[in-house]
Formats: sequence, C-alpha cells, structure tokens
Amino acid sequence: MSFQIVGTGRANPALVLTNEMVSKLVDTNDEWIVTRTGINTRYVSTDETLLDLSVEAANNALNKAGIEGKDLDLIICSTLEGDYITPSLSCLVQREIGAVCPAVDINAACSGFIYGLDMADAYITSDKAETILLIGAEMMTRHLDWKDRSTCVLFGDGAGAVVLKKGNGLKSIKITAKGDDKLLVIGNVFCSSPFSNQPQTDPHFRMNGGEVFKFAVGSALRDVKEVMKKAGVTVSDVKMLIPHQANLRVSQFVKEKMGFSDEQLASAIDHYGNTSSASIPLLLDELVEEGKLSSGDIIVLTAFGGGLTTGACVIEL
Ligand code: COA
Repeated sequence: MSFQIVGTGRANPALVLTNEMVSKLVDTNDEWIVTRTGINTRYVSTDETLLDLSVEAANNALNKAGIEGKDLDLIICSTLEGDYITPSLSCLVQREIGAVCPAVDINAACSGFIYGLDMADAYITSDKAETILLIGAEMMTRHLDWKDRSTCVLFGDGAGAVVLKKGNGLKSIKITAKGDDKLLVIGNVFCSSPFSNQPQTDPHFRMNGGEVFKFAVGSALRDVKEVMKKAGVTVSDVKMLIPHQANLRVSQFVKEKMGFSDEQLASAIDHYGNTSSASIPLLLDELVEEGKLSSGDIIVLTAFGGGLTTGACVIEL
C-alpha cells in the first residue's frame, strides 16, 4: 500500500507578465515565444515571497482534503531554494499551517515533484508516515538573466501542493539522475572568505536549450513507456498525460510518439511558462478544479530537468 492523493492546491503571484511586456526588456516577440515554446503569459513575483505562495497552496490542498496541519506526519517542499538557505522553506510552512511534524526541502530541479512523490511513497510504505503534504514551489524569476532572451522568456513563479494519505493510488514510479553541469546550471552566490581560492560562479540560469530539448524528449518517452508498462496500463486506460511544463513542443512530441490524443494531453504552459517543480502540481490542481479529472481516473506524470534528473509515475486518483 502506498499513497492516494486526497487534496490539491495552488497559488500564483498577482503580476501577469505577457510576451509583449518581456519584449520591452529583450529583443524578442510574441510570435517567436508562442511558436517555439507555447507560452503566452507567466506569473512573476513582486511582493510575494516563496513562503507566501507555498502556504497558500498548502492551505488550499489541506482544505480540500479536510485535513488540518496538526494531522500531518511529514512536509516535503520541492524547491531549487527557499527564501533562506536555512531555515528551510518546509520548516516555515510547518510553522504557518500549524503543523508539528518533521519538514524537509528537496532539490531535484524540475523533476522535484516526482522525487517528492517517490519519497512520500517510501515513508508511507515503511509505515513512517500516513499523511504527507508535498509542495512544489519555485521562484524561477529570481534566477534569470533578464538580458538573456534565450532563457528569460521561458519561466514563471508559483506553488502547487498535494496532500497524500495511505492508499492504493500509486501504480508505478521511477526516478533517475545523471550528473551534469554543462547542459543546465544555476551557480551559487557565496560570501567572500579570506581562505577561499574558488571563483564566484555565474548565479544566472544558463541552458543549452537544444541539448536539453533532446534530453527532455528522449528521457520522457523512455520513462513514460517504462512506468506504464510496470503499472500494466495502456494509452486507452489513461485519462491524462501530465508532463512537466517546459515547452509545448516537448509535451506534444511525447504525446504523439506514445499515441495519446489531444484531449489526453494536459497543458498549462500558455499561462504559467516553466515553473520547474511547481508545474505538475499547479496543473493537477487546475484539472481537478475544472472537473477534468476525478476520482478513479488514471494519470501519467513525467518530468525532466537540471541535475540532470527525470521522474515519471502512474497514479489512480
Ligand atoms: N526571441 C527571439 N529569438 C530568439 C529567442 C527569443 N526569446 N531566443 C532565441 N532566439 C533565437 C536564437 O538566437 C536563434 O537565432 P539564430 O538562428 O539567428 O542563431 C534562434 O532563435 C533559434 O534558437 P534556438 O535556441 O535554436 O531555438 P530553439 O528552437 O531550440 O528553442 C528553446 C529554444 C529554449 C525554447 C528550446 O530549445 C527548449 O525549449 N529547450 C528545452 C528546454 C527545457 O526543456 N527545459 C527544461 C528544463 S528547465
């Protein structure tokens, strides 16, 4: 027995940044961004902290699940980084939602939500936890070089959350890692030390887009095939394929190669951009809210990103 998703929630900053607005900052245009990526707008934080977004998403998910913070056994936040290095984002969420359980942040970049599901599965199957809050929360826009048109058009901010309880929802799951700091990297900023001989790294998001594209389509296709086979489900059993929202062309490639229909492909990249590990739970909550997914539906999740990491799973809602 593993977990069942019993509640979903999401939160976005107030500011909506259109392609038109981005084209005032760098030499780009709406037509290029829409045709190359599928993105029309993205949410960008101004006054909101990552904690604000995480707490709002968490409370939404808890309310829908009918569960209070004090009932949680574990909080996992998937994030590239919280508002502080320490305390972790998850510890501050714990305080804000009235929980008393252990809390930990994990960083598996865009695959982090599926890494979090895998960790939740391990805790629940080993009887270390029965009720877990998993949040994917990212503020990608604070890592961007707003002079680099090849990356700054791609990302947005947001948080999505799920509440997981002991149950039979998870049918199969897989995570992978292949260490690489060439294709996709965000450097760290350290305080200067009189003893250090190490140069400062570039703190901006840098990516070899073409190579990451190849990695994304290849790994997503491999992972989706593998988890569907392991779960014993076919394309016609699946209500929706929910890929990490990085580029509409990546999602469509996987959809076509697997033989899914247009209706089976979930997408929200047009209004979120790439929100890293928040992208899947944001989209999941939208689909549930819009009545496009309900109890008993089978969904396939797939993600890929920095690390390089990947993850995929099959879940019955
Ligand atoms: N506006 C206008 N032109 C742009 C542009 C922009 N925002 N960004 C790049 N260009 C130009 C390039 O300079 C290049 O011009 P050139 O042919 O004169 O040199 C041209 O557009 C094509 O650039 P290229 O990088 O080859 O485009 P692409 O089709 O590969 O699309 C990405 C770029 C980033 C959208 C695409 O590679 C991608 O989505 N990669 C995967 C990203 C991903 O999955 N990330 C997940 C992990 S976070």
